Amino acid sequence: MPATVLAFCNQKGGVGKTTTVFHLAAALSRHGLKVLAIDMDPQGNLSTILTGEPIHPGDAGIADVLSDRSDATLTDIIGPGIWPGVDLAATIPDAETLAAVRDELVLAGAGREHRLRDAVDSVRANYDIVLIDCPPSLDQLTINALVAADQVVIVSQSALFSANGLDRLRRTIDAVRRSYHPDLTLRGVIINLHEAQTIAGQEQLDEIAAHAEIIGYPIPKAVVIKDASEAQRSLEDWGTARARSLATIFSDITIALIGENNGTPAKA
Ligand SMILES: Nc1ncnc2c1ncn2[C@@H]1O[C@H](COP(=O)(O)OP(=O)(O)OP(=O)(O)O)[C@@H](O)[C@H]1O
Ligand SMILES: [Mg+2]
Repeated sequence: MPATVLAFCNQKGGVGKTTTVFHLAAALSRHGLKVLAIDMDPQGNLSTILTGEPIHPGDAGIADVLSDRSDATLTDIIGPGIWPGVDLAATIPDAETLAAVRDELVLAGAGREHRLRDAVDSVRANYDIVLIDCPPSLDQLTINALVAADQVVIVSQSALFSANGLDRLRRTIDAVRRSYHPDLTLRGVIINLHEAQTIAGQEQLDEIAAHAEIIGYPIPKAVVIKDASEAQRSLEDWGTARARSLATIFSDITIALIGENNGTPAKA
C-alpha cells in the first residue's frame, strides 16, 4: 500500500510541530515502518535534528524540488535520517532558499499548489508513512503541504487551543478542500506541552475534544523531550525511566495514527 501522507500544522510557532514529528519518526521506526519526513519550514529545524549525515549550505534540498529554477527531483534530495527506515527530505538551514521559493510560489501561476504533491506522489510507493513538518504560517508552503497530504494533524498546546487561531487553520483546510483537494481530512489534534496537574488543563482538553478528535494521550511538558531531540536521540535511547515512559506516549500516538495491525514493533 502506498504511504499515508500526514501534514503536521499550526500557524502558531513553538507549539511542538517539529519535536512531535521527530519523536514520532523514532516511534514509527521502532514499529518497523518506512518513514519519509519532509521539512517544509524555511527554518530547517527538523532537518538539523533528524539528519543522519551533515548538511552543507550548498546542498540541494526541498526548495530545489519545489522551485522552477532547479531540475532536482524529490528522489535526488532524499537522504538518510538518524534511525533505520527513516529518510529525510531536508530544508537546508540558514540558506534562505525555501523562503525564496515561498516568494516564488506567490508569483507562480497555475499548478503552484500541487508541486509538493506531484513530488510526493513520485516516491509514495517506497514508504509506509510520510510526515510533513509545516512552517508556522498559512502560506504557499503550508498550502503545498496540505495539498500533498491525505490527512492534517494539528499540533496544539492545550492551554492555547482557542487562542491559537485554529479557526483560521480550519478555514484554510476547508479552502484547500474546496479548491484543490476534496479528499483532505482533518485527522485530529495532538496536544503538546500539556499541564495535566491544573484544573484548567483538563477543562481545556474537554473543550478541544468537543471540536476535534484528540489523537492518543496529551504530551506533557518535559525537559527530556527537548533535550533528546536536540541531542538527536530517541526517548528510548535516552535511557532514563522517565524518557522511556514518555516514549510510550509517542508510541501510542503512532498506533492511533497507523492502526494496531500495521508494522512490526521492533524488539527492545
Ligand atoms: N513536550 C515538550 N516538552 C518540553 N519542551 C518541548 C516540548 N515540545 C517542544 N518543546 C520545545 O519547545 C520548543 C518549540 O518546539 P518546536 O520547535 O517543536 O515547535 P514548532 O511548532 O515546530 O515551532 P515552529 O513553529 O517555530 O516551527 C523547542 O525548543 C522544543 O524543544
Ligand atoms: Mg517547527
